[in-house]
Amino acid sequence: MAVSYKELGLVSTTDLFKKAVEGGYAIPAYNFNNLEQMQAILQACVETKSPVILQVSSGARKYANSTLLRNMARGAVEYVKELGCEIPIVLHLDHGDTFELCKDCIDNGFSSVMIDGSHHSYEENVALTKKVVEYAHAHGVAVEGELGVLAGVEDDVVAEHHTYTRPEEVEDFVKRTGVDSLAISIGTSHGATKFKPEQCTRNADGVLVPPTIRFDILEEIEKRIPGFPIVLHGSSSVPQEEVATINKYGGKMKDAIGIPEEWLRRAAKSAVCKINIDSDGRLAMTAAIRKVFVENPGEFDPRKYLGPARDALKQLYMHKNINVLGSAQKA
Ligand code: G3H
Ligand code: 13P
Ligand code: ZN
Repeated sequence: MAVSYKELGLVSTTDLFKKAVEGGYAIPAYNFNNLEQMQAILQACVETKSPVILQVSSGARKYANSTLLRNMARGAVEYVKELGCEIPIVLHLDHGDTFELCKDCIDNGFSSVMIDGSHHSYEENVALTKKVVEYAHAHGVAVEGELGVLAGVEDDVVAEHHTYTRPEEVEDFVKRTGVDSLAISIGTSHGATKFKPEQCTRNADGVLVPPTIRFDILEEIEKRIPGFPIVLHGSSSVPQEEVATINKYGGKMKDAIGIPEEWLRRAAKSAVCKINIDSDGRLAMTAAIRKVFVENPGEFDPRKYLGPARDALKQLYMHKNINVLGSAQKA
């Protein structure tokens, strides 16, 4: 039997995005696959009084089971009340690739879905996105579309190079599809290796600084669809201290370089109103778990390593909300 997100106490993105665009901040979209990630995200957002988009990929659905995920989202709404702050919670499908997947999520309590038709031709992307919008809007669910392709891995699809969003297409795409927000490609990418070291320069402290992302494209898009909610994927900053901890405790992460926080702050002040972060959370958890195992090789109680991983994740996301996205105190 179908379950509406309203029955679960979740909200759609429409009002949140309007306020975020007007207020010059971005709503965090954090991916989760398990209980500890969900706890960390909710605790961080309650403590910073931030709205939150709980993001579920197809991989997460396969890993965690969609019935359990839906009930976790129901639990999330009750949990934040228990924590003493009723922040708005969105349950969002990340990188939906078919109408059937989006429909299944809409029928199972998601309040927002992404239909990522960016790997198709422009006309196929328009047709697929429009079909999802028609079904979603009939159920009060918001839809994120995508124009342009990010380099890197998206689920099972690998793109060698960025295909930047073409500003001349956005107005037509938004008008013909009816989407509520648009993910764009301006040089960010998924994963922990967003730039090659040879593309970067070193600053005075010896830190590698990547080449800038295409803010000029973002500005051109904003001119063509003023005030329309824009989404930035691939926005992990890959904190070098997390990478160093991972490597110190036996990991082998080479050349991991992310998006500098000041660029994300700049984006958040523009029409970018949703910023997607997953890899940074994976790094924080992995660093914490590796440390426990090296320092306590006899440890075998999952709570003793997943607990510190959860706490590290919470601290990281509090920092993002307060210092990077500007979403703290906006709930
Ligand atoms: O866009 C990619 C997200 O980080 C989700 O990753 O497909 O491995 O769950 P995943
Ligand atoms: P990162 O890999 O940069 O965290 O991006 C996540 C993302 O875009 C999820 O859709
Ligand atoms: Zn993404």
